[in-house]
Amino acid sequence: MYVLGIETSCDETAAAVVRDGRHVLSNVINTQIAQHRPYGGVVPEIASRAHVEVLPDVVEEALKDAGVSWSDIDAIAATRGPGLSSSLLVGFQAARSLALRMNLPLIPVNHLEAHLCAAFLGEDAPDPDDFCPMIALLVSGGHTCLIRMDSARHFRMLGQTLDDAAGEALDKGASLMGLGYPGGVAIQNTAVGGNPYFVKLPRGLKNGGGGQVAGGLQRELCFSFSGLKTALRYFLEKTEDRSESFIRDVAASYQEAVVDALTDRLRRALKREGIRHVSCGGGVARNALLRERLGELAEEMSLELHLAPFDYCTDNAAMIAALAGSGLPAMDPCFEGLDVHPNLPIGSEI
Ligand code: KG4
Ligand code: ZN
Repeated sequence: MYVLGIETSCDETAAAVVRDGRHVLSNVINTQIAQHRPYGGVVPEIASRAHVEVLPDVVEEALKDAGVSWSDIDAIAATRGPGLSSSLLVGFQAARSLALRMNLPLIPVNHLEAHLCAAFLGEDAPDPDDFCPMIALLVSGGHTCLIRMDSARHFRMLGQTLDDAAGEALDKGASLMGLGYPGGVAIQNTAVGGNPYFVKLPRGLKNGGGGQVAGGLQRELCFSFSGLKTALRYFLEKTEDRSESFIRDVAASYQEAVVDALTDRLRRALKREGIRHVSCGGGVARNALLRERLGELAEEMSLELHLAPFDYCTDNAAMIAALAGSGLPAMDPCFEGLDVHPNLPIGSEI
């Protein structure tokens, strides 16, 4: 089964062709970073307009790179949510129109579930069902969650951020340090050789005690990154030093705080659930320190760890086509009640 995937939930316009839910034949990504950089973050109007402009070419390129034509495609998949509504609309409506025009089924996909599925892309990856039960750490610009998966289709949220996402914290921290946008990779590059213990920064909820937060989640499995960003701001306000070595040490300390909070909560979740399989996906899963620490945790706790391949961490359409091609029910593209869902929760009925 050949699925053409389309992803436009934020600032990447992406299309990909995936065979049988796991063989990626093409993966085209047109990133808008340069257009948003002057504003220090994603501007929804600019993003949606850019999606309209480039999506037709991106789709054509994905077919060409895969060496297939429209007659080979069996279904079209598109991100339904969560994401920016004006961006989601462009890709989802384009997919619906193409499905109608080509007489193909349309498969709506949950962006977060696709990030989790991305860990199992690639020829050497295990089958996600064989890897279950597992705990998946999803770390992106908009989400930070710990999810228990008892099968590739059964998700139970164990913990999530109560405020900023890990990627958002890195982006905001980078902006405070004058490192530009996007911040995650800027902090990683700046932190090389820096002292991660130079400044003591909070780990949010690390000693937050027990009890539950709204939604019934255990507080000790949740994250909070907004205090980290505020602590950084106060720290920077107290000194005029902006030397290269100072910023290097601050960036290293900030990155350490984010990664430490993530691995600390993951360790607790693993102990609590008695699970030995772990996966990790989302844009922040590209971070070298996080990957290293997850490897160490796996050794310490004798875990089996599966990380999303580097190319499939940040937003891409291969993960959309892959999830769709692994057995979701296809929808009639004419189904009129179906619209994008900017707050689509993980594990919900599409
Ligand atoms: O998954 P993604 O592409 O978009 C969302 O669905 O949100 O994640 C984007 C996030 C951004 O916050 C970006 O700063 C972060 O991923 N990111 C990184 C790295 N590369 C991207 N964070 C840390 N280290 C990286 N190397
Ligand atoms: Zn994403």
